[in-house]
Amino acid sequence: MQKFSTSFIILAAGIGSRMKSSKPKVLHEIANRPIINHLLEKIFNLKSILFIKKIIVVLGHQNELVKSIIESNFPDIIFVIQKRQLGTADAVNSAKNVIGKESDKIVVLCGDAPLVSSNLLKKLVKESISSDIGVVGFRAQNPSGYGRILRDKFNFIDRIVEHNDANSADKKINLCNSGILICRTNFLMNFVKSVSLNINKNEKYLTDIIKFAKIKNKTITLIEASENECIGINDKEDLAMVEKELQESLRKKAMKKGVTLISPETVFFSHDTIIAKDVIIGPNVVFGPKVKIETGVVIESFSHLEGVIVKKGAKIGPFARLRPGVIVDEDVKIGNFVEVKKSRIQKGAKINHLSYVGDANIGKESNIGAGVITCNYDGKNKNKTIIGDKAFIGSNVSLVAPIKVGKNSKVGAGSVITKNVLNDSLAVERNKQLNIKRKSKKS
Ligand code: UD1
Ligand code: CA
Repeated sequence: MQKFSTSFIILAAGIGSRMKSSKPKVLHEIANRPIINHLLEKIFNLKSILFIKKIIVVLGHQNELVKSIIESNFPDIIFVIQKRQLGTADAVNSAKNVIGKESDKIVVLCGDAPLVSSNLLKKLVKESISSDIGVVGFRAQNPSGYGRILRDKFNFIDRIVEHNDANSADKKINLCNSGILICRTNFLMNFVKSVSLNINKNEKYLTDIIKFAKIKNKTITLIEASENECIGINDKEDLAMVEKELQESLRKKAMKKGVTLISPETVFFSHDTIIAKDVIIGPNVVFGPKVKIETGVVIESFSHLEGVIVKKGAKIGPFARLRPGVIVDEDVKIGNFVEVKKSRIQKGAKINHLSYVGDANIGKESNIGAGVITCNYDGKNKNKTIIGDKAFIGSNVSLVAPIKVGKNSKVGAGSVITKNVLNDSLAVERNKQLNIKRKSKKS
């Protein structure tokens, strides 16, 4: 027997004018990842449990840009272009030449509703297996803007009324259309080909499929989901609301894994932040993309980390900034107002106060004094600073790269170091101090 197959169409051609941005709506980020990529990940997660035939993304506005960002993260996506944004039904219709007849059903999703879980999609496919259409609805605290799901006297789904077309009684209904729908392939593609324009908005509504299905005596299943999973992003307020939802779930996930968050509501994660158990994170810590923290690490308040690996037992902050390309080895200490970029800080080294370390390799158990700067940029190139094990760099030293300081060596405070320092040496570069006797004033 042939396997039951499903294809997915994601609608992402809209201009997103309510975002008031030159950036396409689906490329705005939540937890440092484009909205559309959140959604695609949920679909890709299903590949092991569903037979997914095709994943089609409908693009329009700035399609080349959106396509390139999706393609760099997900393979095998089919892109189609909707030339004019004539509504959600027309968007589905733009997939007519690629959809084929092989998939039994199609799931349609809106590219601007990224919080849907893989579980909900699985449930939609399974629970509507014997129906012609399955619709995901949710109870909205504030239903304004959403299509409302109307029911008949038998409590069956009757039709969907868009907010703009709703009368005052309809507007009181809080059961809303999530925009997620599953339908038999033939029925869906026939509907989107033939549906007429809604005269109020000059758009072809996919939601009119319910009315059409009723006339054709088709069976419709309603699946109710939580509002959290269904929020659609239309403007910057929605974007912030979805960010809040996602941050809350990322915080909960971290705490469940054994991470201590002293003030959880003030910590910001990226979608890909990896933190081991027994890590303690102080208030107001921000994780940019690509951060991995090993067990036993303490990150004190107001630290900002991005593109960093922090190994066991290291201590970061307060007020530390770790930029991309940094590896912090075990038991390292990085203190307040220290910025580190593209550098390796080896086991047990300390950079405790007011430093900039960029393009450097700091040896084991070295001590970088307060105010040390690696002068890595000469106006043209970025140059490297290499410091051996157990070196001691005094306060306020400028290390003009490219430069090497050997192991067990010391650099005197205030020096500007432009020549390599050998192993087991002391380098001092500063003017001799003059102590001049002041003429004492006669009283
Ligand atoms: C849509 C639904 C509404 C639902 C809501 C859920 C319709 C008519 N309305 O309304 O019932 O409650 O989503 O969030 O379906 N798009 C295209 N081409 C177009 C128009 C839109 O690709 O011509 C895409 C958009 O990029 C967006 C999605 O379809 O990702 C939804 O469009 P949008 O204009 O945001 O619809 P809503 O008014 O939110
Ligand atoms: Ca929307």
